[in-house]
Amino acid sequence: MSAVSFEHVSKVFAPRTLGWRGLFRPPTGPGFQALDDVSLTIEHGEFFALLGPNGAGKTTLISVLAGLCQATQGRASVCGHDVVNDYQAARRSLGVVPQELVYDPFFTVRETLRIQSGYFGFRHNDDWIDEILANLGLTDKADENMRALSGGMKRRVLVAQALVHRPPVIVLDEPTAGVDVDLRRSLWEFISRLNAKGHTIILTTHYLEEAEMLCNRTAMLKGGRIVALDTTKALIARAGGNLEQAFVQIMNAQPSKFSEAQA
Ligand SMILES: Nc1ncnc2c1ncn2[C@@H]1O[C@H](COP(=O)(O)OP(=O)(O)OP(=O)(O)O)[C@@H](O)[C@H]1O
Ligand SMILES: [Mg+2]
Repeated sequence: MSAVSFEHVSKVFAPRTLGWRGLFRPPTGPGFQALDDVSLTIEHGEFFALLGPNGAGKTTLISVLAGLCQATQGRASVCGHDVVNDYQAARRSLGVVPQELVYDPFFTVRETLRIQSGYFGFRHNDDWIDEILANLGLTDKADENMRALSGGMKRRVLVAQALVHRPPVIVLDEPTAGVDVDLRRSLWEFISRLNAKGHTIILTTHYLEEAEMLCNRTAMLKGGRIVALDTTKALIARAGGNLEQAFVQIMNAQPSKFSEAQA
């Protein structure tokens, strides 16, 4: 049983309706295809990179896994649990650090983490919460209100929130956007330790040197399709340089949907 599996996953976002009157009309146009027949298996213990340019479909794929959006076709599972039919077990197995900063401004950091623990049925979770706070340099912010934190600090709390229920699979959607060098280092040390303990890590980032340093395997998405999937070492060896060179070569070799449509 793999940690994560996507089988022929496609996602078409419904066409935009014009105003509330659009609700009562049939949809105009075919909608937007964000994912196109994505099949991918990630094994337990992997540190996996999901790369691609803006709009490639990375966050959409993660949203399908987290149950935040439903695939139009295909199926996805976490630790063998189907994300639709067995969603509670799938959610318990997964921790997602979202790309967008989302937080509740009425609570302190500790309250936020206790509430998140409660969602997963953990009543007395303070020992683990304290350990996470220490590892993310948040101990002295524990009793601060969320709205009083800087952007980078809020992002650290999002990482902490994803970890409170000790999920075996952790997905980080651009976790280092806007965070300082110090946190990057401590975050990667902490996440690498979790990986060494057996947690599966899936990372999306536009900092390709991070992916090169950390990830054993890499998938590249373009226009909703997987255009490369291999060990990070093999991708680099084929490009004869580093992961950024491999990325540029692979992206340039793939026609965009637009040019295909024009052909
Ligand atoms: N709710 C939505 N409705 C319509 N289109 C959407 C929706 N969410 C995403 N899209 C479109 O799907 C495509 C893929 O978006 P997605 O957020 O998955 O990209 P991404 O690879 O995560 O990009 P980035 O690197 O910028 O985060 C984009 O063209 C986006 O505009
Ligand atoms: Mg994204």
